[in-house]
Amino acid sequence: MNAPCCDGGGYATSTDWPSDVSELLFEQLEQLGFAGVSMLEIGCGYGRMLVGALLGGATQATGVELDPDALEEARKRADGAGVGERCELLEGDGAELELPPHDLVVVDRVVCCYPAGERLVEHLAALTGTTFAMSVPESRGLRGVWNRLTYPLGNLLDRLRGKDPVYLHDVRRIEARLLATGFRLHRGEWVGKWYVGIYQRPAAP
Ligand SMILES: C[S@@+](CC[C@H](N)C(=O)[O-])C[C@H]1O[C@@H](n2cnc3c(N)ncnc32)[C@H](O)[C@@H]1O
Repeated sequence: MNAPCCDGGGYATSTDWPSDVSELLFEQLEQLGFAGVSMLEIGCGYGRMLVGALLGGATQATGVELDPDALEEARKRADGAGVGERCELLEGDGAELELPPHDLVVVDRVVCCYPAGERLVEHLAALTGTTFAMSVPESRGLRGVWNRLTYPLGNLLDRLRGKDPVYLHDVRRIEARLLATGFRLHRGEWVGKWYVGIYQRPAAP
């Protein structure tokens, strides 16, 4: 699998956010508070979200990534920020690895890289203590119509360039799976064609 990167957006190599989508997702999570929280991020890229959470008071963060080069950058970022000891970085497929539960689970611009997006979300929801956060291309409403029209062309061009396709999963079905496992929508917002959703469920007694 190539290291896919939805809509050509890159990773941040500095303190900048890789995209407005990631920045909004982080701001939403920051408002909920990172203090005392353990966090798991699948497709953590260069680790901007993980390090931000650790600097914000998260007790521990685990990042999972298919791309070893991105992981190396994430390691440098975490060590450089002085939070390396609390940051675990694992190379592999977040849908396949055996991972322990975490309070907060994040998938930012990653579900669309994965053919079985619903299964990935279901797998991650089972590992989530209280908060599940995702950003995905919107499939509902007018944004969904636009994405359905434009994704096939984008994927055709990507295929010609040897890149993996980007999947437009049904957000209604993804959300239905989350609701069925006890989550409630805490907050949903949009950045362009992207939906950013935070879901919560009561902590187990
Ligand atoms: C578009 S990038 C987003 C990276 C980061 N979340 C961000 O917003 O900057 C998608 C990343 O997810 C990783 N990825 C895709 N599917 C994955 C999976 N099943 N397990 C782990 N990483 C995955 C890719 O290697 C890539 O680095």
